[in-house]
Amino acid sequence: MYHNTKMVSPFPFHSIIILFRNFCLCECIIGSCDNQVPDMDEVSDSGDEEDWEECNPEPMATTATCLFCEQGFNTVDDMYCHCNVNHNFDITSVVQRFHLDDFSYIKMINYIRKEKPSVDFFGNEGCDGTPWCSESYLKPVIEDDAALQFDIEDISVSNGDHIQSNPEAVGRTGDNKNTTPGSEEEVTVPRVKYHALISRLEAAERNVAQLQEQLCESQQKMDKMRTCVRDIVLPCDEDAGHAASSSSSSVQRRPACEDLGYFSAYAHHGIHEEMLKDKVRTLSYRRAVMSNAAVFRDAVVLDVGCGTGILSMFAARAGARRVIAVDMSDVVYQAMDIVRENKLEHIITVIRGKVEEVSLPVDKVDIIISEWMGYFLLFESMLDSVLYARDKWLTPNGHMFPNLCSISLAAVGNVSKHQEHIGFWNDVYDFKMSCMVSIVEKEAVIETVGKDDIMSNSAVVKELDLKTCSVTELDFSSEFLLTACRKGVVTAITGFFDIRFDKDLQEPVSFSTSAADTPTHWKQTLFYLREPIPVCQGEVIRGNVQVLKDPKDPRSLLVTLSVNGRTFNYTMD
Ligand SMILES: C[S@@+](CC[C@H](N)C(=O)[O-])C[C@H]1O[C@@H](n2cnc3c(N)ncnc32)[C@H](O)[C@@H]1O
Ligand SMILES: *[C@@H]1O[C@H](CO)[C@@H](O)[C@H](O)[C@H]1NC(C)=O
Ligand SMILES: *[C@@H]1O[C@H](CO)[C@@H](O)[C@H](O)[C@H]1NC(C)=O
Repeated sequence: MYHNTKMVSPFPFHSIIILFRNFCLCECIIGSCDNQVPDMDEVSDSGDEEDWEECNPEPMATTATCLFCEQGFNTVDDMYCHCNVNHNFDITSVVQRFHLDDFSYIKMINYIRKEKPSVDFFGNEGCDGTPWCSESYLKPVIEDDAALQFDIEDISVSNGDHIQSNPEAVGRTGDNKNTTPGSEEEVTVPRVKYHALISRLEAAERNVAQLQEQLCESQQKMDKMRTCVRDIVLPCDEDAGHAASSSSSSVQRRPACEDLGYFSAYAHHGIHEEMLKDKVRTLSYRRAVMSNAAVFRDAVVLDVGCGTGILSMFAARAGARRVIAVDMSDVVYQAMDIVRENKLEHIITVIRGKVEEVSLPVDKVDIIISEWMGYFLLFESMLDSVLYARDKWLTPNGHMFPNLCSISLAAVGNVSKHQEHIGFWNDVYDFKMSCMVSIVEKEAVIETVGKDDIMSNSAVVKELDLKTCSVTELDFSSEFLLTACRKGVVTAITGFFDIRFDKDLQEPVSFSTSAADTPTHWKQTLFYLREPIPVCQGEVIRGNVQVLKDPKDPRSLLVTLSVNGRTFNYTMD
């Protein structure tokens, strides 16, 4: 795991921008942006378009109601003919006079239907005030109004002549001018053309289906965005209240807005590259799986937070019968490709979703494998999700990979580092900025500590057996004793964790993120002491550490350290 302060802000503005983008897209689909909508007119680039009618043998049975009286007609052509004769309204000249296009034509029709203007209005030569410019006139006034389906392009083609088209004809051309509108007369086209048209129609249909899918997706994202915006406007007090009052604050109750930011951070490839390139981490998992292949043979495995799917593929290689890989981040789409690329799709099923929300294709699993560890082990609280999965799906004698972990502390002494981090603010280009110290010192720092900077033994302050522990245990407080191994000045306390895969295993595997071992991408966590503590060799430092989820953001931690009676509060966010 990895978690960078900068990548996950409590307000996922990044996600919101994405959501707004989708919002615009969704408007396009709805229709204000015509280039998104497949243009059926493109089908008609030559004659012979009557195939369209073959595919749609039954034109809509609507009647066209006159624009200026109640009379109905079988076709729009008949209706306009009536308008011309009885109301002195010639649609052809109206279209030209008002320079109507598809949109303004529709608006005009709805305007007439709604506002019932006098027909005289349309006779006024040079009238440029078109009262139907409001978008509201795009909304049909009469249901299934046949007049709206009339294609005014045919008028421009027919150049002032009388009406040539009927509403059902798509792209009819001059050759067929004399076809009686709406007639059931058969037409013949060359087979090649027929197939070409059919495949264009099919493509258009696919396009529509795809757009509908996108629309649906956008609507879902809009819903999320609404929740999100609500949470920003009304900060997640309710949830925070729960978390504070109940010790079992878990990721399930975490507001959706925070998790959007969390999961979008994991959608970026860089974070996965860093984790995969961490050989201590990745090779430990591989060794744990491959050297205990006997446990994996024929097992059903759940990979919680599969990322790129690497752990699932280890499990499949080790002989798992079935692996279910779950991740909420968009990286799962890559995981799906990766699984296929390695021809493991018959074993590995990749599911996108939060492990708290997905349903699995199996009732129980034999093994849960997950790389959930955050800085200082518990930062980002992904373990809550793993324990949730365990309680829901792991068989009673199933395995957790890993199964044991511990958090430890040690004393660090490096006066020049302390000076760089804290002392710096007391003299910045000859100015004092000491108010910065109280902010800077409160933040735990993720940094690699040099081996030589370690000044004491290390003390385990928390052990977790993943097979049995509960979410409540993840908030804890613990006493510790550290013995200085040399004379010097303690400038910080370092925190790190150890991971073990050993329960009921023939070949135990473990790794450590301590400063004494090969550095990992977790580095170490440093809690700087405002006032360093001088110690003699063999002197004992007494302390207490308390680790709590931040009630305001359950993925962050509040750490309180007391060292030789002095207390310091730290945040990790
Ligand atoms: C530290 S990464 C590990 C990725 C991969 N297993 C590996 O080892 O390279 C953790 C992954 O878990 C996912 N994750 C965290 N909490 C989750 C949850 N509650 N449901 C689904 N996925 C989750 C994150 O999106 C992220 O991709
Ligand atoms: C302290 O940290 C600095 C800077 O990282 C490093 O160069 C130095 O070797 C460390 N140790 C001591 C004893 O100063
Ligand atoms: C540390 O935080 C606790 C509450 O979490 C508070 O009661 C205490 O006063 C704080 N101590 C310092 C030194 O800021």
